[in-house]
Amino acid sequence: MTIRQLLPTVGERPLTNLYLDHNLRELAWQQARPFVYANFVMSLDGRIAIPHPTKSGFVIPKNVANERDWRLFQELAAQADVILTTGRYLRDWADGRAQEILAVDDPEYADLRAWRADQGLRPQPDLAILSATLDFPIPPILTANGRRVFVFTPANPDPIRAAEIEAAAGRLFETGEGSVSAGKMVQILAELGYQTIYSAAGPKVLHTLLAGQALNRLYLTQVGRLLGGQSFASILEGGLLATAVDTQLTTLYHDPEALDGLGQLLLAYDVVPSK
Ligand SMILES: NC(=O)c1ccc[n+]([C@@H]2O[C@H](COP(=O)([O-])OP(=O)(O)OC[C@H]3O[C@@H](n4cnc5c(N)ncnc54)[C@H](OP(=O)(O)O)[C@@H]3O)[C@@H](O)[C@H]2O)c1
Repeated sequence: MTIRQLLPTVGERPLTNLYLDHNLRELAWQQARPFVYANFVMSLDGRIAIPHPTKSGFVIPKNVANERDWRLFQELAAQADVILTTGRYLRDWADGRAQEILAVDDPEYADLRAWRADQGLRPQPDLAILSATLDFPIPPILTANGRRVFVFTPANPDPIRAAEIEAAAGRLFETGEGSVSAGKMVQILAELGYQTIYSAAGPKVLHTLLAGQALNRLYLTQVGRLLGGQSFASILEGGLLATAVDTQLTTLYHDPEALDGLGQLLLAYDVVPSK
């Protein structure tokens, strides 16, 4: 279970608690505004999703996803007050091909459930869904046990659909023209008391967060496997950013045991605030 830490210092660490020990809730408290972070697992040639073999849409490549990365994903999700996800996630859920983002009912992650309880947090983080189309059902399980669901959509949505979503989900916020404004979304979430905001969404939400200067940290797991293919998603999709976003590597680990010894790099980049 050993991870080789290469940055900021060299050493060896167990996989368990590797990202829990990043203390993201403490970082949010220190900066006195929400700490916003995102995470992707990708192939060495930068694929985070490829076409589904039998259905429409994209999926995370099966030969890139792995249980050691999933453990780290869970540790990041466990530290969240609220998780950002998308209309696509709910459409996948309705189609039976999505799972809970934080797997609190999986005995494998009982320690993370206990950790959240120790922090005074409910088992599940709340959910914030970004969508322009509002074309998704809200499964009742997502609003069970007091979990709050917020929907963020650009200004002037279809009023009937907006009312239906509000009736099923709770609050719907209109922010941005044509595309949700991340700055306003984070401000609203901060006003609602949320301090740690985790994006479990894909490349368009990452673009939204970067364009809105809202992201603090980007976690990447880079699997030592090349996939090729013409059709794929990378970590970032959208127009050229008005200002390039600079980042600095804050931690770097090598996980030699992933994928039966193939190995993967675990990187975390902090966004350098623009001047
Ligand atoms: N490898 C990985 O670690 C990883 C991580 C995350 C996701 N993925 C994969 O990447 C693919 C895409 O994921 P995704 O759909 O969650 O992510 P996405 O590409 O970030 O978001 C797509 C959807 O989110 C909504 N959206 C995003 N930004 C918006 C904005 N600024 N304003 C309004 N709506 C916005 C839209 O929903 P509507 O269509 O409802 O308007 C859009 O269709 C999936 O196949 C997923 O499995 C891989």
